Amino acid sequence: MINNASLRDTQFVLFGAYGDLSWRLIVPALFDLFLNGQLPERFILQGVDRMDSDAAALAVHYLKGVSQHSRYGVPDEAIWQKFAGKLHYIQADIGEASSYTHLGKVLALCDADWGSKTEKVLYLAIPSFLFETVISGLGDAGHAEDREHVRVVVEKPLGHDLDSFRQINSVLTRYFTEQQIFRIDHFLGKETVQNILAMRFANPIFEPIWNRSYVDHVTITVAETLGVEKRGTYYEQAGALRDMVQNHLFQLLCLVAMEPPVSYDADDIRNKKVDVLHSLRPITGETVSDHSARGQYDEGWIAGTHMTGYRNEPDVNPHSNTETYAALKLFVDNWRWQDVPFYLRTGKRMTAAVSEISIRFRDVPHHAFPASAGLNTQPVRLVIQINPEQGIVLKFMAKVPGSELRLQPVDMRFSYKEAFQTESPTAYETLLRDVLVSNATLFMRADQVELAWKFLMPILNSWQNNPAPDFPNYAAGSWGPETAESLLAGDGNSWLTPTLKKST
Ligand code: BG6
Repeated sequence: MINNASLRDTQFVLFGAYGDLSWRLIVPALFDLFLNGQLPERFILQGVDRMDSDAAALAVHYLKGVSQHSRYGVPDEAIWQKFAGKLHYIQADIGEASSYTHLGKVLALCDADWGSKTEKVLYLAIPSFLFETVISGLGDAGHAEDREHVRVVVEKPLGHDLDSFRQINSVLTRYFTEQQIFRIDHFLGKETVQNILAMRFANPIFEPIWNRSYVDHVTITVAETLGVEKRGTYYEQAGALRDMVQNHLFQLLCLVAMEPPVSYDADDIRNKKVDVLHSLRPITGETVSDHSARGQYDEGWIAGTHMTGYRNEPDVNPHSNTETYAALKLFVDNWRWQDVPFYLRTGKRMTAAVSEISIRFRDVPHHAFPASAGLNTQPVRLVIQINPEQGIVLKFMAKVPGSELRLQPVDMRFSYKEAFQTESPTAYETLLRDVLVSNATLFMRADQVELAWKFLMPILNSWQNNPAPDFPNYAAGSWGPETAESLLAGDGNSWLTPTLKKST
């Protein structure tokens, strides 16, 4: 159990201090932790970047980010000043060995000043092509040596493919032990994602039906209305498969499909997740088109606003072959899930921003009710809502009140907000807090990331070597390309419109 007693004096070294990730997510989350009394009493953020700047300028920069992205809105002046007092700045060239020796001196000074062996969090909020440089710089300067007090945090995407992941990981593990490495996938910090484990394993009623005897198929949707915003350069190299499926969607898949863990210990849980990835039926170059669909958004309309097509976005090649939508049909080859399809889809500029997992149960074996009872009998579905609604909906058939026998689908709902009357912490708050107390349960282990890359390589290669002839193939504001419909239609299934409003 994590409590404030586990918090120790900390120096949080933020590489990429002036980057968007720091501004939009990391620092606002640290500030929210501070507001809730969840930062250590003695805490310093050592911002590291190449710009000529200082702590005061960094504080001004962060105040804007915090005002826009903190859960609590614009901060109170006095409280902000207290937080700003914890910000320090180090101008550094990450290619220079002297930058890392200088950093060592700065950190040691603080230790001496506080008379304390502080915890050091080395957070790499920088593009992954810079990881090797910074990790070796840190390692060569001896920053990784204190196994007990130093940890390093890296953000996805970890590499660009299997080889580049292995390369980054080999540099990481040359200097740091696995216990010191925190690989972030922010989906794991979302309350609703964590609740999948609670729902499945803190209740005895779901497990008996959570298998191929009762489940017909599973769909996982992570749809965004956002386009690529100002991230064209990054996204052109990434695409939906690397940006979302390799990490976020595979995490959701693992949590839904994994076996019960023996304990809530980080490795017990991660072992079970890795088993799921081990069990995925491989997709080969020949079967890619039977198991996947890709799309790229064209212009279109979302909520009355005209959206430009992907190829017209800033920093995007006008003939780009990059997918902004990906759908996969997967099978988990084990006793529990043999032949149950798992359909995964994610896309940018879709009809609605909605993330959910839908477990569709098998039909009743025999229909006892007369046809007059209603033709719209629907199979039972359990929907785990991740965004924007946060909760669980059970969709089942009920009798309509009245003298006639008529059946109609109804919803039974659990809503986080209503049940707990409280706002959930953001994913970054949860994860940063876990980094501070060195709890790795919600972080990715190397073998999991490696297996995810390994599995996707045939699809990534096929998509790269065979440019899509039909791009752009879906309008902004739609649910994606036709080919994604065909992926399910062949099995007699379809993507169901996500459960958007309470009334549906
Ligand atoms: C990030 C992706 O990891 O996740 C983005 O790089 C995506 O492209 C984002 O928009 C979605 O996260 P969330 O928490 O907003 O659903």
